[in-house]
Amino acid sequence: SSRMTVPKFTALKGTGQKISMVTAYDYPFASLVDEAGVEGVLVGDSMSMVVQGHENTLPVTLDEMIYHAEMVGRAVNHALVVVDMPFPSYHLGKFKAIENAGRILKETRCQAVKLEGGVEQADTIAALVSAGIPVMAHCGLRPQNVHQLGGYRVQRDEQALISDACAAAEAGAFAMVLECIPRGIAEKITGMLSIPTIGIGAGADCDGQVLVLHDILGMASDYSPRFVKAYADLKSTVVDAVRGFRDEVRGGEFPAAEHTFE
Ligand code: KIV
Ligand code: NA
Repeated sequence: SSRMTVPKFTALKGTGQKISMVTAYDYPFASLVDEAGVEGVLVGDSMSMVVQGHENTLPVTLDEMIYHAEMVGRAVNHALVVVDMPFPSYHLGKFKAIENAGRILKETRCQAVKLEGGVEQADTIAALVSAGIPVMAHCGLRPQNVHQLGGYRVQRDEQALISDACAAAEAGAFAMVLECIPRGIAEKITGMLSIPTIGIGAGADCDGQVLVLHDILGMASDYSPRFVKAYADLKSTVVDAVRGFRDEVRGGEFPAAEHTFE
């Protein structure tokens, strides 16, 4: 099928076709994810934790996001590719936000950026959109606010969530991630907005769902939140494969004749 675009992605809302989105951070996984046929690929700042091993999403830099977005951009030919703006690349005024988001579009083959926030990011979202940069908003739990929040918790302030979602949509966001909010609130927001909601820990009534690839593949760290579902056990697969290699090297079975030049 032809390339997913921002307008096509937004138009999926209301067609009855649920949207699937997963993260990817490098060329090989991004190729496989695109082959699987998801509508969206997210180069998430979850990379900070999942790939770089940091304890939260704050340390990853814009240069590092761009480096990985380049790899993903080269691999994906069908899905829409969205790149997270890392902390604090969109908090330095709207001109700096345009400069930083502009780098993502100029230096990678990716098509849109994502940023965390609603009401207080509305001006920034509008400025990016006026510059021709499609913005996916991210409301509900905002992992970049971890220190202010004191941890990752379900966000239950219905009025605040609705205000944020409406502000981001009115500012011109083409879609919105809703993270870790009660199902009923996500359902209400999804009904109010004309842009698709992509839930993570937000229940089944969103227009789509997003998960971190390493969680789907069962290769994440020991703790995983309630909203995660593993569809494979790659951790065991990888450990078993490498052990198999190690054992055959120790036992002298590898390399065999067929792997050897006489
Ligand atoms: O960084 C990320 O992976 C995300 C998704 C979990 C929505 O923002
Ligand atoms: Na993120």
